[in-house]
Amino acid sequence: MVKNILIVNGAVRVVGNTDILVNKITEGSLNTGTNITIFNLRDKKISNCIGCYQCRKKSTCSFQDDMTDVRGAMEKSDLMVFASPLYWCGVTGLMKTFIDRLFFYYHPHTKPLISGKKALIITPMNQKDVAHESEVLVEFYNRLFNCLKVKIVDMIFFSDIMGKKAVLNRPDYLKRAYSIGKNLINW
Ligand SMILES: Cc1cc2nc3c(=O)[nH]c(=O)nc-3n(C[C@H](O)[C@H](O)[C@H](O)COP(=O)(O)O)c2cc1C
Repeated sequence: MVKNILIVNGAVRVVGNTDILVNKITEGSLNTGTNITIFNLRDKKISNCIGCYQCRKKSTCSFQDDMTDVRGAMEKSDLMVFASPLYWCGVTGLMKTFIDRLFFYYHPHTKPLISGKKALIITPMNQKDVAHESEVLVEFYNRLFNCLKVKIVDMIFFSDIMGKKAVLNRPDYLKRAYSIGKNLINW
């Protein structure tokens, strides 16, 4: 059976490290029985959550923007991949805006639409000390997906890459990303 994989890319930089890794993951997944959909958040119109709580009252969102399509893809997916470079120990603003809109699912009526789904986290970053530098991000994602009852299958960090295409000088990382893609079917 074909598995639907949704990749949400929160990178701001075009053809930066995150894009290159996402492409490698996609390349690795070819002919493995997966159907990959990529949402580059920088190309989408996703408004900030305004806290109107219409989702809690009516199970609908007051915005009709590209988040409707992303939500549709999330609900159809077997595995969601969230890729964002580490920005100030967290995700990019693009990814945070998207995540705020996941508040839609924080209600007994809407949560079942995504609860039980799986998430894989991909994080390129500059620092070498992953354990220390990723502490806040790990806590953030754990709390977020615990609230939404989404299971994090893995959090993978690509450390020590700063410049725009620095990851191209790391064949080990490119190989790893390719192999992540090849194994998406098994998660
Ligand atoms: C605004 C900003 C904040 C950053 N914050 C961190 C950080 O807290 N820790 C870290 O290790 N790297 C940090 N970085 C480095 C990026 O994570 C790194 O350059 C990454 O490879 C960028 O991915 P990209 O090429 O897809 O944009 C930051 C970079 C920027 C521009």
